[in-house]
Amino acid sequence: MMMRAAEKQFSMLKDKEIIVGITGGIAAYKTAELVRQLTKKGANVHVVMTKNAMEFVTPLTFQTISGNPVIHEMFELFAGSKIGHIALSDIADQLVIVPATANIIGKVANGIADDFLSTMVMATTVPVFFVPSMNTKMWSSKIVEANIQKLKDAGYELMEPASGDLACGTEGKGRLPALEEILEKMEDIFTGKDLAGERMLVTAGPTMEYIDPVRCITNRSSGKMGYAIAKMAKRRGADVALITGPTSIQFPRNDIDIVHVTTALEMRNVVMEHYRSASVIVMTAAVADFRCREENCQKIKKKGDNSCMMLELERNPDIIAELGKVKEERIVVGFAAETENLFDNAREKLKNKNLDLIVANNVAKPGIGFGSDNNEVTIIARSGKMKQVPLLSKDEISNIILDSIKKILKKKRTKDDWY
Ligand code: CTP
Repeated sequence: MMMRAAEKQFSMLKDKEIIVGITGGIAAYKTAELVRQLTKKGANVHVVMTKNAMEFVTPLTFQTISGNPVIHEMFELFAGSKIGHIALSDIADQLVIVPATANIIGKVANGIADDFLSTMVMATTVPVFFVPSMNTKMWSSKIVEANIQKLKDAGYELMEPASGDLACGTEGKGRLPALEEILEKMEDIFTGKDLAGERMLVTAGPTMEYIDPVRCITNRSSGKMGYAIAKMAKRRGADVALITGPTSIQFPRNDIDIVHVTTALEMRNVVMEHYRSASVIVMTAAVADFRCREENCQKIKKKGDNSCMMLELERNPDIIAELGKVKEERIVVGFAAETENLFDNAREKLKNKNLDLIVANNVAKPGIGFGSDNNEVTIIARSGKMKQVPLLSKDEISNIILDSIKKILKKKRTKDDWY
């Protein structure tokens, strides 16, 4: 129960009034799941469908999922709705059109308001977000291109379609982007850009050290904490580069630089190549401390009846300690994964590695840390000041860590050495 509560806690979409406009494209069936996800995040969703949308999906589906009446007639009076006859666009916080066809894009770009949805787009003052999906040839036509540009110039939010197989049997750009990406953009629209101008370098995940071509030494890090920090920093306006060891996570946006590495040595080299342009470096990666001394190009075979074998290991570079020596004005944040003496060990790492902050977490505690969507951490500053962060989702923990980083940046830039 507690885990669920923590997971649900953080979303900018919670308690927001969201209007979902649906136009007539085959991707309209995917909008049903989007509406479900929005309601799960605590948004109150009002669906508006065009006549063409109703050729693909029915109002009943959306009424059932959203719990609100679906509007599809120009002069609907919201009969039975709890918002009565107040204009829908007056109570909305965001209007998202999924899928947005070439037709609605063309209408809005050229000032045509001839149905409920297009009229509402013209009338509203809240952010309007178009998620186009259409046939590749339509998407790349000069007219659509020009209309998209008009929408951008007018300040509308837009997302590029994804590439892949299309329902019309062709392949190319035009697919509806993944729902996680649409939701991420909606969260982004609601998030203040208080980290604009910062360049953050984040490492995440485990590293993997080869024993032979089929075996490796690695650890249980899932990468979720680092991916959450990169995501929240980007939402808050920072430029983000993510250097990640092997994970199964799909990053929900394509506007950050992502470099995939496998071994600690590869991670070290990429970090040292990129750190100069960063103002903040956050090392959440669980870097393997050792690698095999010898490279075995062939699979190691069992010999005779030996019941044990020795692997000779050598130390990997300590990446963050190396950064601590060359960081100058940059903020360097480490993570301490501990199973005992949490605070003493974390403080020692903070000092020995010359860090600005360390985030201590007890990886032996069930339900938090490795692989979990939640965490419970203590943030320790150079002054010894400690901030206990209770069990929360990793997104929320990330925001609290970013708040601490922001404070240090401010103090450092005003030459106050409180931290
Ligand atoms: N770290 C690093 N390079 C390494 C090992 C760790 O940059 N070779 C960084 C991690 O990314 C983390 C911090 O150092 O930010 C602490 O990592 P942790 O694994 O907790 O500690 P270690 O320094 O490896 O010490 P130990 O394993 O003995 O606890």
